[in-house]
Amino acid sequence: RMPPLAACYNLMDFEAVARQIMKKTAWAYYSSGADDEITMRENHAAFHKIWFRPRILVDVENIDMTTTMLGARCSIPFYVTATALGKLGHPEGEVVLTKAAHRHNVVQMIPTLASCSFDEIVDAKQGEQVQWLQLYVNKDREITRKIVEHAEKRGCKGLFITVDAPQLGRREKDMRSKFSDAGSNVQSGDDSVDRSQGAARAISSFIDPALSWKDIPWFKSITRMPIVLKGVQCVEDVLRAVEAGVDGVVLSNHGGRQLETARSGIEVLAEVMPALRERGWEKRIEVFVDGGVRRATDILKALCLGAKGVGIGRPFLYAMSSYGLDGVDRAMQLLKEEMEMNMRLVGASRIEDLNPSLLDTRGLLAG
Ligand code: FNR
Repeated sequence: RMPPLAACYNLMDFEAVARQIMKKTAWAYYSSGADDEITMRENHAAFHKIWFRPRILVDVENIDMTTTMLGARCSIPFYVTATALGKLGHPEGEVVLTKAAHRHNVVQMIPTLASCSFDEIVDAKQGEQVQWLQLYVNKDREITRKIVEHAEKRGCKGLFITVDAPQLGRREKDMRSKFSDAGSNVQSGDDSVDRSQGAARAISSFIDPALSWKDIPWFKSITRMPIVLKGVQCVEDVLRAVEAGVDGVVLSNHGGRQLETARSGIEVLAEVMPALRERGWEKRIEVFVDGGVRRATDILKALCLGAKGVGIGRPFLYAMSSYGLDGVDRAMQLLKEEMEMNMRLVGASRIEDLNPSLLDTRGLLAG
């Protein structure tokens, strides 16, 4: 019943396979969004409100899709974003993603709530491979300080502080599935978890809801890693982030798993970049987007609007759960092939050539 890997032609195909073959609890945890999953659906649908205005007679014989993110060179402008509990989908967990990321020279963001230990994931890194740390901030700041210092010592090149989850969203599919077998090696520092509320709730009780802008200088004082706020959702907060001196933001609604009917990252991006350009601030901060990125055309749209890169979450989990390393490898390969072709068709041979004039965003801005 399991289709051969070669029968997966795009990232959605992995989702269809995963839905068939994954354990019910694991599928529920990975695939769920908050409440009625409207934001989760909109994340992808919003890309379809943007149309291309391709340029003709541009020499596109040689396509160069390499770029940098936070100073790290990468082969294509996407990264593997942080997703918790990798062992729900595959017995080896997050190190599968590490190996695939190495094959393709893409960056991996390591989740605080990984199933593998942080050190296992760093040990799986090869050569100059770049990893970032996603941080859930513990109420006990000494625990947080140790995690951050350890990550820097182990070579992490970016600190992504998740700011959209002072409390975990209500993911009913996950709650119904009565998570029981997931935790494995989660390093939350709290074993007295309530498993009746689904996997997400069970592992997140240590997160500090009192985290605020006042804490940012402290983070800057404990690390030299670039600091990025993950889960920024409006232009006012992006401007405030610039003023606070952070190095980047991820425009994200956590894959639609947090505030229901929050706007898509791509829509927020369309609002943010003009405001930064107006102030001449677009070089002061790197802007990333995640949520619903499934096609290279989605990546291209985000880059044309001004994003430095995009994060991709669920598709790699589904590829990993279905086919292991070869699955994630193929998913990344498919994106690269789509990217090369679509850069040609849009008339851009390098990442620097991507700009807003290649897009018609009237549909997005009209709502
Ligand atoms: C996530 N995400 C997430 N984000 C974070 O900061 N810390 C975390 O522990 C997790 N865990 C997590 C688990 C699962 C199963 C999913 C699907 C997502 C959010 C993630 O980093 C990212 O914002 C979204 O996944 C992007 O949307 P797509 O690509 O999944 O549509």
